Amino acid sequence: MIRKASRVASSVSALGTVLLAAAGASADGRVPTPSIFAPVSTPAFAIRELAMFVLGITGVIFLVVTGLAVYVLVRFRRRRGDDRTEPPQVYGSRQIELAWTVVPLLIVAVLFLITARYIYGIERRQPPADAVEITVIGHQWWWEIRYPALGIVTANELHVPVSDPARPALTFLTIQSADVAHSFWIPQLAGKTDAIPNKTNRMWIEPQQLGTYVGQCAEYCGIQHAGMLLTAIVHSRDDFTRWVSAQHAPARNDGDTQRGRALFVSLACSSCHTVQGTPGNGVFGPDLTHLMSRSTLGAGVMPNSPENLRRWLDNPTALKQGALMPAMKLSSEELNDLTAYLLTLR
Ligand code: CUA
Repeated sequence: MIRKASRVASSVSALGTVLLAAAGASADGRVPTPSIFAPVSTPAFAIRELAMFVLGITGVIFLVVTGLAVYVLVRFRRRRGDDRTEPPQVYGSRQIELAWTVVPLLIVAVLFLITARYIYGIERRQPPADAVEITVIGHQWWWEIRYPALGIVTANELHVPVSDPARPALTFLTIQSADVAHSFWIPQLAGKTDAIPNKTNRMWIEPQQLGTYVGQCAEYCGIQHAGMLLTAIVHSRDDFTRWVSAQHAPARNDGDTQRGRALFVSLACSSCHTVQGTPGNGVFGPDLTHLMSRSTLGAGVMPNSPENLRRWLDNPTALKQGALMPAMKLSSEELNDLTAYLLTLR
């Protein structure tokens, strides 16, 4: 009973949190915490509709059950002068048994059918010829993001064009994993899609509001599961085109950062990381060709600032426990040179 009560209390407080998050949506659609109640993209609209419908039905059930329970507790409580004998017991009432079998069966059937209809509606959507195609690959603990048709490889930040009724813009995503099971989830854009080793899943989004939306891995995948964050930036058409051409630009190769570049190439960095135009072509860690165009380091665990970058190169696990990038035991001068080089990769 106590356990049940605390479970009810925790679901009520969880509901409070999501409603607060929805109420806190600002003019550009951003919310302080990711919320399925503040959608800005097509499949997420449908998910909110369905969630509201299910909440409505289960809310009525909750009120009826707790209402009856409270009524019975009060009405039939033990009173002074009760004779302490049991009341008459009722066995085998066909009407009551039919009622508590048939009514829940109907409710479950309705919830099942309407959910199936929504899932079918979302899944049957086929990519139009001009859809943006993105492949997202979950890694411990970061997201590899590839645009195969555009020849772009980045990490942890999804850049997509906004869709408007005059010019719809759909983005289709292929979700894969390089190691263990992860789950790709940006609640304001779409539902969760698992990233499973040796399996390819598909999903799509059609964001209708400019802005930056946050998400994260939604399947426990190891010590940094909570440090596997995601950002989606919904651009206007023109801004998206600008972002694409900026990503197409070759990596900078400044004269005064040659020492850092040489370190990147000669140390183990280049066997895990790619910088286009250098011998570094590793794919185990994020592509660094345009590292400084991204706003965070370590998949969202800290802002991408020069100080953080230097600390990260010095000892990644001090900033992100369990991170698979090793500390390279660099001297202070080497750290300065390497940081200076990476800072030019805009
Ligand atoms: Cu990746 Cu949890």
